[in-house]
Amino acid sequence: MNENGLAIQTETLGKTFGTIHAIRSLTLEVPIGSIFGLLGPNGAGKTTTVRILSGLMKQSSGCARVCGLDIETQRDQVKSITGLLPESPGIYSKLSAVEFLEFIGALNRRNGDSLLRRIDSLLSLLGLEERQNDLLESYSSGMKQKVLVASTLLHEPELVFLDEPTSRLDPSASSLVKDLILVLADETETSFFICTHMTSFAEEVCDVIGIICEGKLMTVGSPEQIIESVDAADLEEAYLRIVGGRVDREQLLAWRA
Ligand SMILES: Nc1ncnc2c1ncn2[C@@H]1O[C@H](COP(=O)(O)OP(=O)(O)O)[C@@H](O)[C@H]1O
Ligand SMILES: [Mg+2]
Repeated sequence: MNENGLAIQTETLGKTFGTIHAIRSLTLEVPIGSIFGLLGPNGAGKTTTVRILSGLMKQSSGCARVCGLDIETQRDQVKSITGLLPESPGIYSKLSAVEFLEFIGALNRRNGDSLLRRIDSLLSLLGLEERQNDLLESYSSGMKQKVLVASTLLHEPELVFLDEPTSRLDPSASSLVKDLILVLADETETSFFICTHMTSFAEEVCDVIGIICEGKLMTVGSPEQIIESVDAADLEEAYLRIVGGRVDREQLLAWRA
């Protein structure tokens, strides 16, 4: 447990790819136990931020601590105490849910009875006990996504990164994943860092939200604080005001002139 109560602390974190500034001077603090949502349009820098914080990619400038650990000098420890659901995860469809989770557990150096008990409890939390020995190829997208979320939690991480956990799911599957995150946050005391471009999802699930646009963190606060700060009716309106996404109707129809 780190002493300052922060799951994530970044200071002027930056990443460039050639001339592209993927993230610019990102300074952010996320308290332990939060469900933090990084909200932003495509290309805003969300995935880059998660890759750096989870130890997959090196930053170009600035520094960050994850659960009190330095992401540059303690990268292996960061990886061992965090879980990551990438934007496009792979799944082995010829394995059953139990076999897949045993395999992921083994990759995280977990085995034996304690791993099997953990798999059992996660699968029953997910409501998948009845189907747990069926091949993943027979699962719906929502069920697969639940298994993938569970795979990030097997080694009891202190912090879980979920990159667009619902972007490829239909509304009912996405609602299942949303409920799952809320249950797990409640029952496991895990901190979550979730990237999304879906304002309604962020509003329902996250207790703190950061809005990022063109690599720059525009604002951080509770959904209510962000809505109030720009005098909007809901988070979607606040988001559009902050990222400048509202398209002027006249501008949209200007081609007719
Ligand atoms: N490996 C890479 N090489 C070059 N440019 C990249 C790479 N990864 C991301 N970028 C660029 O960085 C910016 C941020 O991308 P990304 O972090 O994936 O955004 P988001 O996840 O918010 O959609 C984009 O302009 C993207 O093209
Ligand atoms: Mg992304």
